Amino acid sequence: MLIGGWLIAALSFTGCQDSDFQPDYVTLNLPDYFPAMVIPDDNPLTRQGIALGRKIYYDQRMHSTQQMSCSSCHEQASSFTTAEANCMAHINLAWHSAFLWNGKIEGTLEDVAMFELVDFFGTDINVFLNDTTYHRMFKEAFNIKSDEITFKYASYALAQFLRTMNSYNSKYDQWKRGEYQFSPSEWNGFVLFNSERGECFHCHANHLFVDNEFHDIGLDMSPSPGRFTMTGNQNDFGKFKTPTLRNIELTAPYMHDGRFQTLEEVMNFYSSGVQNSDNVTTLLPAHNGGLNLTAQEKADIIAFMKTLTDNTYITNPDLSAP
Ligand code: HEC
Ligand code: HEC
Repeated sequence: MLIGGWLIAALSFTGCQDSDFQPDYVTLNLPDYFPAMVIPDDNPLTRQGIALGRKIYYDQRMHSTQQMSCSSCHEQASSFTTAEANCMAHINLAWHSAFLWNGKIEGTLEDVAMFELVDFFGTDINVFLNDTTYHRMFKEAFNIKSDEITFKYASYALAQFLRTMNSYNSKYDQWKRGEYQFSPSEWNGFVLFNSERGECFHCHANHLFVDNEFHDIGLDMSPSPGRFTMTGNQNDFGKFKTPTLRNIELTAPYMHDGRFQTLEEVMNFYSSGVQNSDNVTTLLPAHNGGLNLTAQEKADIIAFMKTLTDNTYITNPDLSAP
């Protein structure tokens, strides 16, 4: 059965203690050129778990003020980010192994979901404990009684929903599937992106456009500490997490501090603004101020980056407010 891009496999359970507990196990229908998604054994995707995570994501009672939800800053129309300077998009996060610009949370989506609810939001557990709709949904998702609801289960549900937030219908994906032909400018940008002329592919790697690494790309001669804050290692000073470029057209402003408003500004930086800071990456020619691209090369790389826009993602009804 195919529902909104998910395969729902109704597995019959033998040996299950509670015959009422029959969640619908979900298999995601992902492109074969994506790496396999690793899903923790103790948190398989189910229709009920995803629905619960989606409700939590959009519930304004989650924040300690009871007036802010995840979606207040992570807005679907902007690929689940917001114009706030340093916000990060929610897109294909299931393949990431560290979260936040400085990688404060290492591990799984369950781990970062727990951090967001408990530490960032200060969620009051009574919101779940006093709500009969949540009682029913936690029961359906995890087969627990209402007084057994904990942040662990709430985080597991959020992680399940985050694992369904995947984009793979951009022009780039259509091109991969043989359904779209790049324009000459997009093609030239693609070639530059993946060559030693552009160098982008080293870090915005493979089809997810991330490498799960931290780099100092030379934004400042004296950068902010970034990854150093977490590791205390001087070699990490000025390094930040590589963000994906999927839907990059929709997620301005750019960089960890939102210093660039447009992709043109980003390209001018990579072309002639790279600073020769202590830990600057050897993948960019910082001693020359950057890649020294022509106006046409910059425009072509931008044209290519815009092929990563996926309008079906920002309008996908499965990801919108329930
Ligand atoms: C007030 C705005 C705001 C709200 C509300 C908010 N976030 Fe965020 N989120 C941010 C910002 C800003 C960052 C980047 C912070 C940093 O690294 O310094 C971020 C980063 C993240 C990341 C890391 C993404 C990555 O690529 O590493 C995850 C995951 C996340 N948020 C999940 C959530 C969840 C779940 C909720 C709801 C419980 C939530 N956020 C609510 C602003 C917000
Ligand atoms: C050495 C690794 C590396 C290389 C090479 C590299 N990038 Fe990046 N890119 C990063 C990192 C890390 C960031 C975030 C830096 C920060 O905010 O401090 C980033 C940020 C960006 C952003 C802003 C993303 C956002 O969400 O704010 C864009 C756009 C971008 N890079 C495009 C490119 C292009 C195009 C190229 C090739 C011309 C390129 N990058 C080369 C690692 C790299």
